[in-house]
Parts: sequence; C-alpha cells; structure tokens
Amino acid sequence: TSPLRLGIAGLGTVGTGVVRIVQRHAALLAARAGREIAISAVSARSRQKDRGVRLGAYDWEDDPVVLARRDDVDVFVELVGGDAGPAKAAVEAALELGKPVVTANKALLALNGQALAETAEATGAPLRFEAAVAGGIPVVKTLTEGLAGNRIERVMGVMNGTCNYILTRMEDAALPYDDVFAEAEALGYLEADPTLDVGGIDAAHKLALLTSIAFGTRVDFPAISLEGIERVTIDDIRAAADMGYRIKLLGVARSSGRGVESRMSPCLVPVDSPLGQLEGATNMVVLEGDAVGRIVLRGAGAGEGPTASAVMSDVIEIARGQRLPTFGQPATSLAPARQAAEPTP
Ligand code: HSE
Repeated sequence: TSPLRLGIAGLGTVGTGVVRIVQRHAALLAARAGREIAISAVSARSRQKDRGVRLGAYDWEDDPVVLARRDDVDVFVELVGGDAGPAKAAVEAALELGKPVVTANKALLALNGQALAETAEATGAPLRFEAAVAGGIPVVKTLTEGLAGNRIERVMGVMNGTCNYILTRMEDAALPYDDVFAEAEALGYLEADPTLDVGGIDAAHKLALLTSIAFGTRVDFPAISLEGIERVTIDDIRAAADMGYRIKLLGVARSSGRGVESRMSPCLVPVDSPLGQLEGATNMVVLEGDAVGRIVLRGAGAGEGPTASAVMSDVIEIARGQRLPTFGQPATSLAPARQAAEPTP
C-alpha cells in the first residue's frame, strides 16, 4: 500500500508535536495504520523559527488553501486555529475536493460545524476533530464509538485547563483572581485572547461539539448558556469550601423533558467527587449512558504531546479507511438544537 501523505497547516505547539510523532513512531504508526504515514508539505507563518524538529524534507506552502489542494496531500491537517480566515477556507477547500480533514479547531467547528459536516458528507470526506475537545482525552471517540450502544443521558466536565488552574490556585494560595490571572499569563497558559479562556468561550466551544455528538443535535454554540470565571471571588471559594464544595467552570449538557440543555458556568461540585478533586491545568469529562452508567475521563486538555496524540488518532482512523460521520451520525439527520435548547423559564 502507498503511504498516507499529510499536509500540515500550522507548526505551533500542536503541529510540531504531530511532526515529532510521525518521525519518532514511524514503524509503530505504519503497523497500526496498515500503511506508512508520511508528510508531504507544511505551512506556517515563519520558516526560520527553530522548532526542534527536522522539517527539511517537506515542501513549504505559504497559503494553507494551496496546501490543502495539493495532489500529494491525502489528508489535510488543520492546526492554524480561528473560526474564519485561512483555517476555514483551507478546510472547505479540502472537503470540497473530497479530501479528509483532521483539525484541532474547536472554534471553527463550534461555529461552522453543521455546514462543514454537510460538505464533508456530500463529498465523502471524513472530518475528524478528536484534538478539538479536551486535548489528549479521547472523548470524541469514546462517545461516537465506545458508547455507540447507549442513550447518553448527561455529559459534563471541566474542559478548560487554564480556568481550572486559576480556580485551584485561588483556592490553594488564597490569591485574588487578578493576581492568579497575571500568574497564568506569565506561565503562558492563556490564549492570545484571554477572554476565550476566562470567559468560558473555549470550553463552551468544546461543550457545543460534545452536545451534538451525545444528543444527535446540530452544533449550536449560541444556544449554550455561558458564564465565565471572571467574577468568581476568594469569598465565593471560601463559602463553597465551608459547605464541602469547590467551584469549577463546569460544562453540563443533558437531555430533559424540555429537550437538550447545555450550560457552561462556575458550579459547586462536592469536594470528594472526581470533579471536586481535579487540580491544576487538567481536564475531566464525565459521560453517563443508560447502559454503561458513568464513565470518568481525565487528562491533559492542552499541550504538545497530548493534543498531537489526539490528532494522530484521527490520522490513523483515516489511514485505516474508516469513514465515520462527523458528529457520530449523518449531519442531515441531526435535530435542530436551538428548538431543543429553549432556555428554562
Ligand atoms: N486554553 C485551553 C485550555 C487550551 O486552557 O484548556 C485548549 O483549548
């Protein structure tokens, strides 16, 4: 069999991690995928930057759209980010050609997921995004494959490591929000636009994707009731602790008599529960299915190795010839979410 040739757009932390795994684990990947995994070409803002990986063997493209369309690119790997602009244009270009896409871009899918999934299904191109939700935790595959025999009753979790870091640090060091925010910034945890983290938006993007998969509804980010952690105070944290609770930025999606409800907000969780014991820049996702009961997944939601690990799981899935629908069932069969998510009176 011929090698599966990747075109990687974006050589930041995650893109570099993907290159590293492809180079380091060539034999292991070939054995698991049934064919060699190769890289044809890459694109990134800077060619000069030393990323600590060998890039000399790959062609460079300036434009991700051109990269996506290259004949020697079998799978387009989008690690540029952003819900519009070059990332969106390049993903569309690949899908329109029927070319598989692997992306870590939660904003892109949370805001354009339905249209992209319909394009993907119309042209037969897989569109996979394991890395977009909770980084290294294989929660998309757990829902779409591992729990495919269940009616999902509830999905909840901590899906932004930076917010969990800030909240646990406020607790442990008794430091006010502003001080810990500055600390997180110095550590490089915050996104370029920190509101994405502390406003709960990044976590809500992830919740929007999980809600769609879990409940068979269209991705509808605006339907999520959203509140970030900016207004959480030390006093809130102390009052919660006095009652045996901790404050977590928790996403919860569940199916009720009124339909599917999704919220992302600071919540009280019991100190002795798995969520209540989650420390630092970590993620946890709790899945409840009618047959399986409760499953708890915990791990790194960001960073080079964990996120690249998730990207590679999608690449291997595609190399094996699997063609799974984007959100676990055909996009055209997804129920309208807005109607189901009417706010609670
Ligand atoms: N800023 C995110 C987090 C990174 O802190 O979890 C992954 O989306």
